Amino acid sequence: MKVIIKKTTDEMSLAGAKIFAELICKKPNCILGLATGGTPVGLYKELIKMHKQDGLDFSKVTTFNLDEYLGLDGDHDQSYRYFMNDNLFNHVNIKKENTYVLNGVAADPQLFCDGYEMLIKAIGGIDLQLLGIGGNGHIAFNEPGSPRSSRTRIVDLTPETIAANSDGRFFSDPKDVPTQALSMGMATILDAKEILLIANKESKADAIVKTVEGPATEDVPASLLQAHSNTTVIIDEAAAAKLTKEYA
Ligand code: F6R
Repeated sequence: MKVIIKKTTDEMSLAGAKIFAELICKKPNCILGLATGGTPVGLYKELIKMHKQDGLDFSKVTTFNLDEYLGLDGDHDQSYRYFMNDNLFNHVNIKKENTYVLNGVAADPQLFCDGYEMLIKAIGGIDLQLLGIGGNGHIAFNEPGSPRSSRTRIVDLTPETIAANSDGRFFSDPKDVPTQALSMGMATILDAKEILLIANKESKADAIVKTVEGPATEDVPASLLQAHSNTTVIIDEAAAAKLTKEYA
């Protein structure tokens, strides 16, 4: 794992966006894995700026999102499809038909998940996967205990994750947060050719030290990234506060 510590959240976002922009320039038809949540918003803003100011071209890019709430339609303002349209897709020249987000209202959700896996494989796999991290070390909605071999599937959300997503940033009442989601699995994520995990704020410091310096264990899903050969972690100083070793 390559660990890069930036002074601020803005610097973290810019450094992450540059990695995406470099790949898009080098391989215009690249396959990107994308995340939602608060952490990547700044990175998406930088990509939008690069598109508007420097002509960064998304016309041949394909994207796959990590997860979606079970039971939410893409028009629901808390769905991850809505989030992606709002925070990135509506502002760049990506073709909507090349943006894949799991369907939270699929008639047969598991069949939909199996098809998602097949599509990712058929298209040649994800070139660069963006990840945020939960305070309990989850990546996508792979909560602690998620098997290393897991693939896209229906998952239960922990009370901790439900609380984190109803702290006023997204849902305002925990009762409104769906209790299940569709999520890429750990094996799906680890298949990506390159992975970029970003994290900011003190609330992520525990999860980051366990991810980077702790043992690789399914109890801290992100720590399984230690076994991936091309993973970069970019964090701000607050999220790096508990690291004990020296990093760039
Ligand atoms: C979202 C996702 C989640 C978030 C994580 C952190 O697609 O996969 O794992 O990355 O819950 O969320 P924020 O960024 O809101 O702290």
